[in-house]
Amino acid sequence: MSLHVLSHPLGAHVLTHLRDKTTKPALFRTLSYQISLLLALEATRDLATEKKSIDTPLEPFTGLVLAKPLVVVPILRAGLGMLQPFHDVFPDVSVGYVGLERDHTTAVARSYYCKLPPLANTRTIIVDPMLATGGSAAQAVDVVKAAGGKELVFVCIVASPEGVATMQQAHPEVAIYTGALDRTLNAKKYILPGLGDFGDRLYGT
Ligand code: PRP
Ligand code: URA
Repeated sequence: MSLHVLSHPLGAHVLTHLRDKTTKPALFRTLSYQISLLLALEATRDLATEKKSIDTPLEPFTGLVLAKPLVVVPILRAGLGMLQPFHDVFPDVSVGYVGLERDHTTAVARSYYCKLPPLANTRTIIVDPMLATGGSAAQAVDVVKAAGGKELVFVCIVASPEGVATMQQAHPEVAIYTGALDRTLNAKKYILPGLGDFGDRLYGT
């Protein structure tokens, strides 16, 4: 499995403000947009292209266009905070949804919703800001694979070593793109240093 950790000064800057506990939901949403935009560009660097012949105003030209449809699947609810930049950069993207919620005591994710577009012959990017135990991400990949997804990538904002190991074990072929690889999980399975509960901070709950 390949793990790509974002290496961009703006990424580090934005992440520091996301981690800051005094950052309020309005700014938190803006920062989430900004880092997700950087991650969207990184995670699509290797998209397949094909030749296309067009005419410029001056002469014929053969350029490149994206060869495959792109699907983005945010894991509800926090994954929604990463969706808009994908829409902005790839206006033709299709969107699927997987709803998963971690139990507060066991930290095991429970599925409560799933709606996916056709996935055959697409690049499917699953987005969720936090890869903690990796249970939610691994479950979402299971669901997307069962629905026919083959070329899969997972994008998050903060990953833990434990979450990466879970994904490596369950889905070794799925590349992970993350804004940061943090130190570890605490006893409640929150990422350290992390940024707390992403969904709560995004939505002010
Ligand atoms: C958070 C986060 C991930 C999950 C990560 O969601 O957005 O989906 O926890 O934890 P894991 O790697 O241990 O599975 P949460 O379940 O809190 O739901 P929410 O997005 O509705 O807040
Ligand atoms: N979910 C979050 O939102 N944050 C964590 O640190 C772990 C899971």
